[in-house]
Amino acid sequence: MSVEIRPLTTNLGAEIIGADLGREDHRKAIHKAFVDHSVIAIRDLDLSPDEHLEFARSWGKINVNRFFQRLDSHPEIAVVLKEADQTSAIGESWHTDHSYDTEPAMCSMLFARETPEVGGDTAFAGQSAAYEALSEGMKKTLGNMKAWHSSRHAFGIQLADEEAHATGRIGNEEAATQDSLHPVVITHPLSGKKCLYVNADFTTHFDGWTQEESQPLLNQLYAHSSRADFTCRIRWRPGTLGIWDNRATQHMAINDYPGQRREMHRITIEGVPLS
Ligand code: SIN
Repeated sequence: MSVEIRPLTTNLGAEIIGADLGREDHRKAIHKAFVDHSVIAIRDLDLSPDEHLEFARSWGKINVNRFFQRLDSHPEIAVVLKEADQTSAIGESWHTDHSYDTEPAMCSMLFARETPEVGGDTAFAGQSAAYEALSEGMKKTLGNMKAWHSSRHAFGIQLADEEAHATGRIGNEEAATQDSLHPVVITHPLSGKKCLYVNADFTTHFDGWTQEESQPLLNQLYAHSSRADFTCRIRWRPGTLGIWDNRATQHMAINDYPGQRREMHRITIEGVPLS
């Protein structure tokens, strides 16, 4: 039997049904769906942490997140957890994982272990569609610009989510020292498409501009890049493995499930320098 690929929208995202990760032809079809759709949700998997890791390693080298709580038995797996009595969720504003690294992560693989009965989706926004919808004048201006990305304000000591720190879901603040410069418009390493590459969690300012000068244009780009017609959502259920391309998308965890528990396991795969 072959895997079934069901697009979620015309721009972005696909659901994958009937996948057997033990089969090489299925693995190839999954990778092709990832390249074609940038966000995939592989349904109905029964993955142990070892199997999650083995599958991830077949895509590339694992980039262990410095700040997330780690799974005790498998420290390469980050735990994305919200307990029923907690109020903040990890990643609840638009961002792209690890953009503060000089070689930002290619993709993240999030496996749903426990999900709320309803709610707790992740929203994704396609950054190639966001780029294409800009005016020619703005494309030309941004095409010559670079921006700084930093881990300091999201994961550092002063400005991080207090509850996430207090509960140990986020830690290792001293390690939040990464600052990297990337083009504002990148050429996607797999598709060759141009993508907008700034995000509100980690981008601090344009190269050669002050933060004050940068903020109005950054705010406009953030509003534009998450326009509803560029988006899709993964509606999780236990056994779903979501994989998204961090160079082609931004994402946001939707924190709409007060009083319910959500536990996800994330592995991030290393990428390449962006140009
Ligand atoms: C993340 O930002 O990696 C977490 C996304 C989610 O929990 O939905």
